[in-house]
Amino acid sequence: MRLDGKTALITGAARGIGRAFAEAYIAEGATVAIADIDADRVRATAAEIGARPIVMDVSRQDSIEAGVAEAVRELGGIDILINNAALFDLAPIVEITRDSFDRLFSINVAGTLFTLQAVARHMIDRGQGGRIINMASQAGRRGEPLVAVYCATKAAVISLTQSAGLDLIRHGINVNAIAPGVVDGEHWDGVDAKFAAHENKPRGQKKREVGAAVPYGRMGTAADLTGMAVFLASSEADYIVAQTYNVDGGNWMS
Ligand SMILES: NC(=O)c1ccc[n+]([C@@H]2O[C@H](COP(=O)([O-])OP(=O)(O)OC[C@H]3O[C@@H](n4cnc5c(N)ncnc54)[C@H](O)[C@@H]3O)[C@@H](O)[C@H]2O)c1
Repeated sequence: MRLDGKTALITGAARGIGRAFAEAYIAEGATVAIADIDADRVRATAAEIGARPIVMDVSRQDSIEAGVAEAVRELGGIDILINNAALFDLAPIVEITRDSFDRLFSINVAGTLFTLQAVARHMIDRGQGGRIINMASQAGRRGEPLVAVYCATKAAVISLTQSAGLDLIRHGINVNAIAPGVVDGEHWDGVDAKFAAHENKPRGQKKREVGAAVPYGRMGTAADLTGMAVFLASSEADYIVAQTYNVDGGNWMS
């Protein structure tokens, strides 16, 4: 039980990787609040896994502040935050819309920064330090022809992790990030469908291509990421500050 007695807030955890993180944290002894914009699903998931549901839209400041305050009340304080909520979109450079750009940056970048800020203020006031884990991506390490905006948001998450990590460690708050590669699930069902439309491929083909290209030999699963998420939240990671860890089957080296 590496997180015994700890409390955690995980955003975007109604499904996918965030849900798997919540289940792993609960299994390690933590009390967990899961926050998501999808009200019905976050309530259903919370009931299934034994977490507290919070309806929260990380693209809205009032919703972040209300959601973090609710988590503090429900949990009695927040020891660990995982900034996991994100949105994906895909378009060639000449077709990117202002609307898509604004939406992705407001969820993936502003959502990450201002949720981190709200929780960091709470952690500083409380005086017990804490852990913040941001979800980056291999997409933040290198641009991709059809994925400019999402890649840019994840590069921004890596940069924010470095700055926040350096600023907040004096308060005993460790900020780090995880950069997954390609992780199968509902998110990638949507990504595959978008690639199918843009690259004129049958559904499922992009998944097979990206899976075959992973040195490990397959796409990742949410379960492949939980070990790193537990480790970074545990006391074993006390001396780790401002880092982004690749958990991607060997796709990226840095
Ligand atoms: N799946 C992958 O291949 C992959 C790879 C690299 C990085 N990541 C990152 O990992 C994280 C989780 O990915 P996933 O595959 O589980 O994605 P997902 O799409 O399955 O889950 C994202 C969750 O975020 C929620 N969400 C969306 N907008 C929100 C908002 N404004 N406020 C609150 N919640 C919101 C969604 O409702 C959903 O439940 C994301 O940050 C993603 O960018 C995923």
